[in-house]
Amino acid sequence: MTSVAAKHAKGKKLKDVIFVTAGQAAEDTKLNGRELVVNGTLGAIYDEEGKLVFLKTVKEEYLNLSDTEHIGYAPIAGIPEYLEGAEKECFGDSRPDGFIRSIATSGGTGGIHHLVHNYTEPGDEVLTADWYWGAYRIICSDNGRTLVTYSLFDEHNNFNHDAFQHRVKELAAKQTNVVILFNTPGNNPTGYSVEDKDWDSILNFLKELVAIGRNNVIIGIDVAYLDYSGEKEDVRAFFKKMGHLPKEILVCVCYSLSKGFTMYGQRVGAMIGISSDEEIADEFLEVNKSTSRATWSNICRPAMRAMANIVSDPDKFKAYEEERNSYYQLIRDRADIFKQEAAEVGLPMLPYRGGFFITIPTDSGTAICEELKKEHIYVIALGNGIRVAACGIPKFQMKGLAGKIYDAMKRLGKL
Ligand SMILES: Cc1ncc(COP(=O)(O)O)c(C=O)c1O
Repeated sequence: MTSVAAKHAKGKKLKDVIFVTAGQAAEDTKLNGRELVVNGTLGAIYDEEGKLVFLKTVKEEYLNLSDTEHIGYAPIAGIPEYLEGAEKECFGDSRPDGFIRSIATSGGTGGIHHLVHNYTEPGDEVLTADWYWGAYRIICSDNGRTLVTYSLFDEHNNFNHDAFQHRVKELAAKQTNVVILFNTPGNNPTGYSVEDKDWDSILNFLKELVAIGRNNVIIGIDVAYLDYSGEKEDVRAFFKKMGHLPKEILVCVCYSLSKGFTMYGQRVGAMIGISSDEEIADEFLEVNKSTSRATWSNICRPAMRAMANIVSDPDKFKAYEEERNSYYQLIRDRADIFKQEAAEVGLPMLPYRGGFFITIPTDSGTAICEELKKEHIYVIALGNGIRVAACGIPKFQMKGLAGKIYDAMKRLGKL
């Protein structure tokens, strides 16, 4: 193939099953109508009428900003009131003790990019669970790093500490910095959340590891689905555990406005660093600010301002939380329908605690998803399962869906 791309860029190609399948669902909807087509593809909230939800409280604040707020540049680190709002909204009542620094990022994705870029060496490996969001692999490979995985679940569908510890030790023997990405609560694609007791074991193990004196551990926590994963303060309680850790453990929370404030396309998030050491916290701010300048420079001002205004005004914040909670409830109701019916028909499903997605484990995701398309059902084929977007499927279409997937799997002999 003729190519002028540099060596490291040659052969790169983005294969995005999710957006391709979403496009097919949209085409089918145009031809056959919304009632017939089940669109469980994208990670965005659609209401019971199939309309993309823009929270009214957020929309009103956003659309009423001044011209300067709409189009002006923002500081590279982000608007200070936004960063204050992001920390407040992210941690809730469970702000950890320690030195905390925040920097605005281009969505949660931006934070994950900076984390990989600034805390591993070229050629290093980055660790995550085997049920992970595909963008992690692309971010790693684009930066000359490799994503490696451990089995998230043991035979009882609990956190697999043996597999986790084994993989961490392997990495620790090869490289100084061990970067571990957790996507919790409400993991994409499974809906699983690491439980507080498991966090205790994970942190104890990592503390023992750094006490040997060879490694630093960087814990990345991707909380994209924080606001849809359970009761507000319950799902945030684990943040308290991130204080008082040894200085060789840096925690970085990748926070996003995409889902919680329904501003997906505005590309706003924040990376929030937590360290017991002030110099490490200050370094976090400086190295990441520099990488922001070198990539997107600064991010979308109006989305940051709209969020800051809402979070700093108790009445607006209350109205916003009530509205957002009504959608959290809606997604939960939809997932409950699926869970109950899956149990009734005997369809296997991974432990869903919250978030946007439900996953059915199978090695034949592609064949089953193709079969389902014949019935106008669009869900996502993963290498190890099928992902159903509960955030997008209205209740009337959720009813019977588990049975249809079960039947398709049975027809193909894949149960
Ligand atoms: C697991 C996970 N992390 C992070 C994100 C971040 O999204 P954004 O960059 O829009 O904040 C998503 C969005 O789909 C996601 O599924």
